[in-house]
Amino acid sequence: MSTVIKNGTIVTADLSWKADVLVENGIITEIGEGLTGDDTLDATGCYVMPGGIDPHTHLEMPFMGTYSSDDFESGTRAALAGGTTMVIDFALPSPGQGLLDAIQMWDNKSTRAYCDFSFHMAVTWWSEQVFNEMETVVKDRGINTFKHFMAYKGALMVQDDEMFASFRRLGELGAIALVHAENGDVVADLQQKLLAEGNTGPEAHAYSRPPQVEGEAANRAIMIADMAGVPLYIVHVSCEEAHEAIRRARQQGKRVWGEPLIQHLTLDESEYFNRDWDHAARRVMSPPFRNKQHQDGLWAGLQAGSLSVVATDHCAFTTEQKRFGIGDFTKIPNGTGGLEDRLPMLWTHGVATGRLTPEEFVAVTSTNIAKILNCYPRKGAIRVGSDADILVWDPEQEKTISAATQQSAIDYNVFEGQKVKGLPRFTLTRGHVAVQEGQFRGQEGHGEFVKRAPVTPVNKALSTWKALTAPRPVERSGIPATGV
Ligand code: URP
Ligand code: ZN
Ligand code: ZN
Repeated sequence: MSTVIKNGTIVTADLSWKADVLVENGIITEIGEGLTGDDTLDATGCYVMPGGIDPHTHLEMPFMGTYSSDDFESGTRAALAGGTTMVIDFALPSPGQGLLDAIQMWDNKSTRAYCDFSFHMAVTWWSEQVFNEMETVVKDRGINTFKHFMAYKGALMVQDDEMFASFRRLGELGAIALVHAENGDVVADLQQKLLAEGNTGPEAHAYSRPPQVEGEAANRAIMIADMAGVPLYIVHVSCEEAHEAIRRARQQGKRVWGEPLIQHLTLDESEYFNRDWDHAARRVMSPPFRNKQHQDGLWAGLQAGSLSVVATDHCAFTTEQKRFGIGDFTKIPNGTGGLEDRLPMLWTHGVATGRLTPEEFVAVTSTNIAKILNCYPRKGAIRVGSDADILVWDPEQEKTISAATQQSAIDYNVFEGQKVKGLPRFTLTRGHVAVQEGQFRGQEGHGEFVKRAPVTPVNKALSTWKALTAPRPVERSGIPATGV
């Protein structure tokens, strides 16, 4: 069974050209002119791009006393509807739970996925068991990315000594450290102060997490990663303070990547001052939305290459769940949706405005993260031999975003009412046409786990610190340099 995508313009991260694409058994087998196949998809007027990869989702995540409402079924349905063909979710051990146990839970949750997926491993506590299991996670389970929460004190947060120990272990194993960069101690303190002063509404969520808490943590994580000799990926970069730290680190040759979210690029802090409590609470996430200056900085970072990937941090809670926090903003479940809207919103606000080229769009939505996560060119590429995760993108198609027509299971959309121009005509997941001109035709359970090998060769040259300060005892007359 073969499918040919005809008459489109292929857009990759570095090149665009007119050609047909032949897909056989889920793989791209030929790219060229005048190709034929059993089925033909007409891409006239469209761009043929690698399917989007969203490296930051929380599907059915246990968090703040509840579970995020989109699971792997509705979440991957939303992903495909918006042109995303792979998601990377976080396997999250509860305190005291082993890493392998947690992965087993995520294996069970993900059986209904419509598109391919992978996991990042979260390090939420530290012990010899965690240290030991990390090797199995990397070598046997094919997970090379480990996330550390520097916030959510008393829940997911890890201390600096734990983070350093974990980062060193990752450096040895050829894995990559991820951080949620916010100073959780300062946030907890500010939360208590705000509540004591009578600030209980959703706007206080933003007051309790100023850019400084993010900038401080980003700087700290960068320095700890450098001392540990591990590459670092900073998730949901929302402000200039964190961006500046990333920019500086990259100029110094450190392997550090920054990931802004489509929400932070297109929505701002004024959302929290909406007089409707539900409206503001639905947008409570960490870090919070920022002002226009920070937003401009994030766009500039994508243009300049100091920020590498646009994600969603899709972690969707219903209005009813958000209302757990009436009277106490610290109890509003943190998280927003975006999986279905990431590509149309980025195209509309990025490419159609001239901020990004179509090739840069492909880079930041797919190719860059496939390379960072070490699944390129199987994913993130239009090449012979790559998985046929393909997006046929119609730049002229328009819609108005609405919860009434979305795939996500929640009852609202943070982008409600936004007009977008640029939508999938077809979305293919390993050759299967899951979306055809607005109709969802995905197959439940079609999604497969994607293993990702360690990145050891890159790690060897990593630490700027080790090279400068290789420990060496100083010989002194009459006193032995080492021992008693
Ligand atoms: O508010 C957010 N971002 N919720 C999801 C968990 C996280 O911090 O990534
Ligand atoms: Zn986070
Ligand atoms: Zn997250």
